[in-house]
Formats: sequence, structure tokens, C-alpha cells
Amino acid sequence: MVILAIETSCDDTAVAILEKKGKQLKILSNIVSSQVKLHAKHGGIWPFLAKREHQKNLPVIFKRAMKMAKNPKIDAMAVTEGPGLEPCLWVGINFAKDLAKKLKTPLMPINHIEGHIMANFIENDSASIKFPVVCLIVSGGHTQLILMKDWLKYKKIGETRDDAAGECFDKTARILGLGYPGGPAISKMAKHNKAKITLPRPMINQDNYDFSFSGLKTAVLYNYKSQAKKSKTYIESMCFEIQQSIIDVLLKKTIKAARHYKAKTILLGGGVVANKELRKQFKLKLKAIMPKPSFCTDNAAMIGTAAFLHKKTKRKIEAKANLEL
Ligand code: KG4
Ligand code: ZN
Repeated sequence: MVILAIETSCDDTAVAILEKKGKQLKILSNIVSSQVKLHAKHGGIWPFLAKREHQKNLPVIFKRAMKMAKNPKIDAMAVTEGPGLEPCLWVGINFAKDLAKKLKTPLMPINHIEGHIMANFIENDSASIKFPVVCLIVSGGHTQLILMKDWLKYKKIGETRDDAAGECFDKTARILGLGYPGGPAISKMAKHNKAKITLPRPMINQDNYDFSFSGLKTAVLYNYKSQAKKSKTYIESMCFEIQQSIIDVLLKKTIKAARHYKAKTILLGGGVVANKELRKQFKLKLKAIMPKPSFCTDNAAMIGTAAFLHKKTKRKIEAKANLEL
């Protein structure tokens, strides 16, 4: 069975073609066209600019993906229906609907968060996970802890009450003048804390699985404003402390959830999981499983992988900006 998947929920236009033979999942093509350079000029994502780019790029990327996969017969299609930026989601959905009609294939609507979880199985053997599973999804739009008691059985046990962790990386990088996207920029400079900066770890000791990152952003802003000379040592120390503060909170809450729910497997996903230091600390302290960095950030292979788990549907597919898992 061959699935063609489309992802346009944020600022990446992505198409992937996957083939499943028995238990073997093979990527025939996987193309991601990032709009980072365009949005970097504005310091963040502009939804209508992103929509225009998706409209321009999606047909081109689709053709490239088909060519790379050697024009296989498509048995089914999958598209992200949410959560995400509504104008962007519609571009993928409308394109997918037209194409599914032309190719006479079923079209499966996929939740983007489920895609981030399933990114763990693009190249890994899914048999090696044991339930219950606790998943931590950390991206530019979401920070959620999810309990899985079985395949397709998701229960959200915690989430951010304000900014997502990726958003915090992006906003604090902007304060420090490091550009967009902030996660990779901060991680590159997070070498030491010679300036001995201390930032808060919001909600770290609270008895719940929720997060909050806007206070951390405000603390960075006040600290930065109070600093007369923003030396290289100061910026590097700030990056180190921002990154460690985010990791500390994510790690402590995930450990707490894993203990409480007696998790046998910990899965990570989402763009922030591309962070080297976070990967190191989660592997060491929790033996967490995580996708390779290029499958952490948005891609369509994860949407296709999730689609293999679902039955075909004839229900109406619409963009759902706030879709829950
Ligand atoms: O999952 P994703 O590609 O898109 C959303 O669904 O939001 O995540 C994008 C987010 C951005 O906030 C970006 O700054 C962050 O992931 N990110 C990182 C790293 N690479 C991307 N954060 C920390 N360290 C990184 N290396
Ligand atoms: Zn994402």
C-alpha cells in the first residue's frame, strides 16, 4: 500500500510518499520546503504570507515527490487537518481533496500532534514500545504531555497554559537579537553560563503536568533591559540558561508523569526535540525514544506514518485550527 501525505499546518510545505509492505515502512520520497528565510525577515510567521508560499510551492513539491518516488500508484492520501494556522491548513486540504478526486483515492484527515508522535515510527520498529506510553510533544505551537494506553488511545494529561516551549525559544531569541527560528539560534550559542545568570523554572514544583513559559520570556526581557553592556559572554550565558530552564521544566514534569502513570515507554516529538542538549538529557535521565532531528520538525512522512494506523473515512474534511487529539 502506498500513501501520499501532505503537511502545510505552519511554515513548512511538505509532501511524502510512503510504502508499507507487511510491517516494513519505506520512504519513497520526503520533501520539506521551509519558509524560514522568508519569515526570518519579519521575526516570526505571518499566516497569510505562509499561505501564499504554500500555494506557490505545494504543486511543485508534489511533482518532485512523485518523480523522486518514480511515479508509483497511490492507494490512499493523507492530509493534516489541524491543529495549525487555518489559512495554511486549507491550502493542503484543498489541494489534497482535488488530487484525491483525480487519483480516485480515499483521503485521510490526520491530527498534526499525532503525526509528531508517529514520527517515532518512521524508521523505528514499533514493536519495541510498551504501553502505557507517556509522550511529550514540544513544538512552536504546542507543549503537551499525552498518555497512550494503546495505539490510537490518547489522553492529554498536561499542556502549556500560555506560550509553547518553541515559542519561548523564538521570542527570547528575538529579545536577544538572534533571529528566527529561535531554537536553533539559542542552542548554537548555549555554550556556558560564565555570567552566572539565573532564570525561573516556571511551575516546576507544582503538582500537575501543565507548563507555563511566558514568565520565563518576561524574565529574559527584564534581565536584558537591565544589562548595560550586552557582551558575547552575557548573550552566551543567557542562551545557556534559557535552554537549561526549558529542559529542566520539561524533564521534571515528564519524569513525574512517567512515574505516576507507570509508563513503560517515553516518546518525544516536535521541533524542540531537535535540540541536542535536550536529547542528551532526556536519553540519560529517562531513556526516552525520539525521532531523528529531521523528523522532529514538521514533515509529511510523520503524517503518512500516522495515516497507516487509521481506517478510511468519508467524513467531511475541514481545517481545524484548534483540533484536539
Ligand atoms: O514542530 P515544529 O517544526 O513546528 C510546529 O509544529 O510548531 O517546531 C518548530 C519549533 C520552533 O519554535 C523552533 O524554534 C523549534 O521548534 N526548534 C528548536 C530547535 N529546532 C527547532 N528548538 C530548540 N532547539 C532546536 N534545535
Ligand atoms: Zn509541528
